[in-house]
Amino acid sequence: MAANDGAASPPLANRVILITGANGGLGEAVARASAAAGANVVLLGRRVPRLTRLHDELEAAGCRTPSIYPMDLSGAVPEDYDVLARAIADEYGRLDGIVHCAAELKGLSSLQNLPLEDWFTGLHVNLTAPFLLTRACLPLLREREDACVLFALDDAQRTARAFWGPYGVAKHALRGLVSILADELENSPIRVHGVEPGPMRSALRARAFFAEDASTLPDPSAYARACVQLLAGTDRAAPRFVTLQPHSIAPRSLGLATFAG
Ligand SMILES: NC(=O)c1ccc[n+]([C@@H]2O[C@H](COP(=O)([O-])OP(=O)(O)OC[C@H]3O[C@@H](n4cnc5c(N)ncnc54)[C@H](OP(=O)(O)O)[C@@H]3O)[C@@H](O)[C@H]2O)c1
Repeated sequence: MAANDGAASPPLANRVILITGANGGLGEAVARASAAAGANVVLLGRRVPRLTRLHDELEAAGCRTPSIYPMDLSGAVPEDYDVLARAIADEYGRLDGIVHCAAELKGLSSLQNLPLEDWFTGLHVNLTAPFLLTRACLPLLREREDACVLFALDDAQRTARAFWGPYGVAKHALRGLVSILADELENSPIRVHGVEPGPMRSALRARAFFAEDASTLPDPSAYARACVQLLAGTDRAAPRFVTLQPHSIAPRSLGLATFAG
């Protein structure tokens, strides 16, 4: 029995939601919240034991049985994403949403001292992978009456500053990708949003702010409900770029002007 059986129409009932970085802070939180809201979640990540733990936890909580899709985005090529889209089509016959939470930040470094390999991997995981994955899944998403793709962004002003390296560059480019894709899909059933959570307790945050007291930061789960609301399309007037506030949505159109930041 699903966790929400008995409740009136859980917001994501029967929807299939693919979450990347599903064993990370935000990804895991969105997976839990989506599953609790009635979704079939597909958990994409590269750490199978952690994904399996989450799978078992959700199943034990009475959610719909999640799927695990092990994938290392740094080595994935376009055909791998086609295989993923086909696997979802075969298993569920539909895809209603994607939440791009996977991100790589090895640490802060000047561009001068950055190992070149980290440049290529950073751009690949943070920009090219979400592009390829979304592109491969567009035909499936188009089949739905309502579908949604969420890209996790980061503070545009902070990440345009020194030492944010390929992570900062990729997150800015991802903002551009959101704009272009949303424009192209304006008359389609697919809603596209860039979502910007505030600082939260996670491995990624700790790699950039290693001296801060992480206990003062919100848990990623504080931002998960807002993502579920966007996936469900509860607020059709939600802007393209949404700044997430803990436990609520406070829409603020960031616009392309923030590139200058
Ligand atoms: N934390 C913050 O304060 C903050 C603020 C603003 C925006 N964000 C954004 O929020 C999103 C989630 O971040 P988070 O804080 O939850 O970070 P996190 O806990 O470090 O999660 C990142 C996830 O990405 C996965 N990942 C990294 N490289 C991968 C690869 N090559 N293949 C597959 N998966 C890979 C990680 O897997 P592994 O566990 O295997 O490494 C992890 O599951 C990111 O897009 C981030 O930019 C975070």
